[in-house]
Order: sequence, then structure tokens, then C-alpha cells
Amino acid sequence: MRLDDLDALGRIDRHDTRRVLAEFALQCRRALQLRASPPIAVNRPRLVVMAGMGGSAAGADVLAACAAEALDVPLLVHRGYGLPAAAGRGALVIASSYSGDTVEVLSAVEAALARGVPVVAITSGGALGALAASHDLSRVTLPDGLMPRMALGYLVFPALGALAACGTPVASSDDVEEALQVITTAVTDLRPEVVTDRNEAKRVALAIDGRLPVIYGGPVTGAVAYRWKTDLEENAKRLATAGVLPEMNHNEIEVWRGEEARGLHAVLLREGDEPAEIADRFTLVRELIDPAAGGITEVWARGRGRLARLLSLVSLGQWVSYYAAILRETDPWPVPMLTEFKRRLGAPAGERSLP
Ligand code: F6R
Repeated sequence: MRLDDLDALGRIDRHDTRRVLAEFALQCRRALQLRASPPIAVNRPRLVVMAGMGGSAAGADVLAACAAEALDVPLLVHRGYGLPAAAGRGALVIASSYSGDTVEVLSAVEAALARGVPVVAITSGGALGALAASHDLSRVTLPDGLMPRMALGYLVFPALGALAACGTPVASSDDVEEALQVITTAVTDLRPEVVTDRNEAKRVALAIDGRLPVIYGGPVTGAVAYRWKTDLEENAKRLATAGVLPEMNHNEIEVWRGEEARGLHAVLLREGDEPAEIADRFTLVRELIDPAAGGITEVWARGRGRLARLLSLVSLGQWVSYYAAILRETDPWPVPMLTEFKRRLGAPAGERSLP
């Protein structure tokens, strides 16, 4: 399969995922206009918990990575049922579920209601939309029709606005404007019409083909490494792993030896002016794993601000996973196992059956 053969690509990508990915910058601009209603009546929470799963948690990861250096209030990303014990008086819960039907997020909102913790719901509807409406919770209503993992703009920018409205901003308006410009250029460079020689996403997809992709980020880009892993798994239906420096220097680095490492391909997510101690570690990792690794690819974030850098790497990862799917002749859009799992989970226990 040649990635520059647009007819073949169109036959595999039956749901036109390429159009959704190509409209990422537009999606982000639309998302930026959305506001919570009724308005958020919280000022300077002592803790923010962002509850979400899968694609709907990915926006929270981006915001948590922005918050790490910008915000003096802890921001937790909560993936699971209920809420952590710390989410009590003075906390704020931002509940994100694109479909609105994710049971873990619904249970987080129920826990917040039981504890009297204010909630902002971000959803296209579903049970979360109904629950938020019945309690008159602040909510941002998203347009529907997307796959949650392809609605990242809608899961980042309204939450960014909600955080700013509470006096806990994680990015300035200049950062936001820069991010939008950087994404616009990135997407233009990565679309299928741009041939492999000039298309970084196609080249990375070809490089990792046939080997297990192992994505490593630094302290900031680590959140995006995890996103690359999940996009490869959901879009290309192939296993990937993600890790973070410096932590991997203390354990995972041992894997990169012997015959087994030939089947691994490291992708390093770098930033131009990362701290010297992190840059040194990336250099050393390269040196040490190179003799055994099946391959190593380095990619660099675009832009100056944290938001631009994170979203530019997210966008590159989306396209890499898209082309990885095409190489396997797999439609990137549907996620039949995930859908079937949710269906069975929702069925009364007695009706569950094994295949
Ligand atoms: C599917 C996807 C999944 C969902 C997850 C939670 O495209 O990305 O990871 O995001 O199953 O569902 P939502 O996002 O609807 O709460």
C-alpha cells in the first residue's frame, strides 16, 4: 500500500476520517467559542478534578500538562469510577464525556452531587447531558457525530475556558492563538495530499510499520506519548506502549537489548528548548538503545507555548496512527471491540455471553 495513492486511501478510509483530522484546527476554533451555561459560579477552587475516560480524558491530560507549571492549584485527571477522597469541600469537578454515556464519568458526577462538589459537564448529550440538565449544572454542549478521540478540540478548549472562568487559567489568550496557528500549519503539512517525502506523519508511520511502537516523551510531552499509544491502538488497531523520561531510565531502559529489541521502534517526542537535563537523557537513551533497537525516530514539537507544542504533537500522532491504519488496510474510524465491550457491559448481567 502506497500512502500517496489517494484512491486506495479513500477506499480504506470509508468513514472519511481524513476530513475530520484535516478539520482539527477548525474544530478547535469552533470549540473556543463554546461557553458553559448556566455560567460557572466557582472562584479559585482548591483542587480541580477532571473526570473522563479514553478520548475524553485526553483533553484533560493536555490541560494537566499545561497546568503543571502554570497553575498553583492541583489539577488531577481522574480515570475511573467515583471520585478521589480529596475531591470534597472547595473542589471543582469537570466531567468530560463526549458521548455522555460513559458510566465511570456518570459515577464521578453522582459522587460529586452526593458530596456537594460543583460540577461542570462537557458533553454532546447522552445520560450526562440529561443528568446535568436535571440538576441545572453548568454544562457545555458539544456538537455530536464525531468519534470521541477525534473530538479533542472540543474536549480541550471548553475546559480551558471553564478553568479560566474559575480563576484557574492554564494558558493565556496569546498561547491559545499561537496554538491555533501552529495546528493549522501542522495539519496542512500532514494531510494525505502531501507526498511521503514531505510528510512527516507518513514517514513515521512507515518507519514503525512491522515493529512495536514505543513512544517516549519528556516530563511535558509524556502526556502526548500516551495519546499516541491510544491513537495507534484505536485507529490502527495495533499495540503500542508509552513511557516518560526520566522514569524510563530507571526501569524500561533494560528492555532495549538482545534480539527482542529488534522488534521495537522507539519514537522520541522532543521539545526545542527542553531542560538541559532532559535533553541529555534523550541523547543518552539514543546512544544506549541504538545498537539493539529495531529503529529510533525523533519528532519535534512545533511552536513556543506549551499548548501549541502539545497540540502539534497530538496532531502529528493522530496522522501517524491514521497512516498506520491505512498501511494495514484498516478503516481508522470504527472501534468494534470497544463498542461491543460497552454493549455487553450495559446489558443485564444474565444476558452477557462469551463469543
Ligand atoms: C472512542 C474513544 C474512546 C472513548 C471512551 C469514553 O473514539 O476515543 O476512548 O473516548 O470510550 O467514551 P466518551 O468519550 O464518550 O466518554
